[in-house]
Amino acid sequence: MRHFLDIADITAADLKAILADAAAMRAARAGLPKGTPDPDPALPGRALAMIFEKSSTRTRVSFDMAIRQLGGSSLVLNAADMQLGRGESIPDTAKVLSRFVDAVMIRANAHEDVVEFAHYASVPVINGLTDRSHPCQIVADLLTLQEHFGDLGDLKLAWVGDGNNVATSFIHAAAKLGFELNLGCPDGYAPREDDLAYATNSGARVELTTDPRAAVDGADVIIADTFVSMGDKDAEKRLGDLAPYSVTEDLMGLAKPKAAFLHCLPAHRGEEVCAAVIDGPQSLVFDEAENRLHGQKAILKWCFAG
Ligand code: CP
Ligand code: NVA
Repeated sequence: MRHFLDIADITAADLKAILADAAAMRAARAGLPKGTPDPDPALPGRALAMIFEKSSTRTRVSFDMAIRQLGGSSLVLNAADMQLGRGESIPDTAKVLSRFVDAVMIRANAHEDVVEFAHYASVPVINGLTDRSHPCQIVADLLTLQEHFGDLGDLKLAWVGDGNNVATSFIHAAAKLGFELNLGCPDGYAPREDDLAYATNSGARVELTTDPRAAVDGADVIIADTFVSMGDKDAEKRLGDLAPYSVTEDLMGLAKPKAAFLHCLPAHRGEEVCAAVIDGPQSLVFDEAENRLHGQKAILKWCFAG
């Protein structure tokens, strides 16, 4: 049994295997109706519970369809409707759910809560986004880039904006796969020191600058995310501080001519990215969204293969 809590926790070989498996499963069911199980479903009879403390469209639907295509079933639980929301402890909730279901995916406010849940669970636990990281998203993003460019190790990625949970998982992935990652974040919005130190100590090619133009110069990929993440309280200040980091056509023009644009969605056109970029020919955002499904399937299989 394995938990999938952070890209930093898994080996580079396992991350590559997850990406390869996701691509293979995607190809193997091409043309089938989405609700049809895979030709040779890998997880028949497995039940996945999903706990949401925060909103979700992609994570919720992609995990639900993923476990169905693998031959299993799911329960979607709103944390506020559970006894968890009235103060039942995380250890007790983890032990009880472990008696009912075969795996649990959690989207939580506090990363530590997911780590604690995994500690007490006796079934695989998957991080479906926390304030700290979003590892499932990065599997989909890497899958999208692998399909588009081939080898990931030679790519130069530029993250522009808030050094948030998604940026953190990109840092972890850069340490595993060797691609270059330039982070263009204003003062006060850099990723956590310990994640930057992790990159340095792993020999990852991660650079941090406050200059968005320097970050994207010659990049193969520009990545943006919302300026106001779920749980952020200071929306007005963030929108002001981060406005110069908006991915405009001008900024996109500083990357390579065939550079790709990624965004995990939901997007805010006119804030972190302009409509012409996210809806333009260089944008891969809907392939990226679809790849959440294929990525989740490979993550689930990896968890059960442990
Ligand atoms: N990208 C992502 O995680 O989307 P949701 O918040 O809709 O799940
Ligand atoms: N950084 C965003 C990602 C949403 C999928 C958030 O945490 O709200």
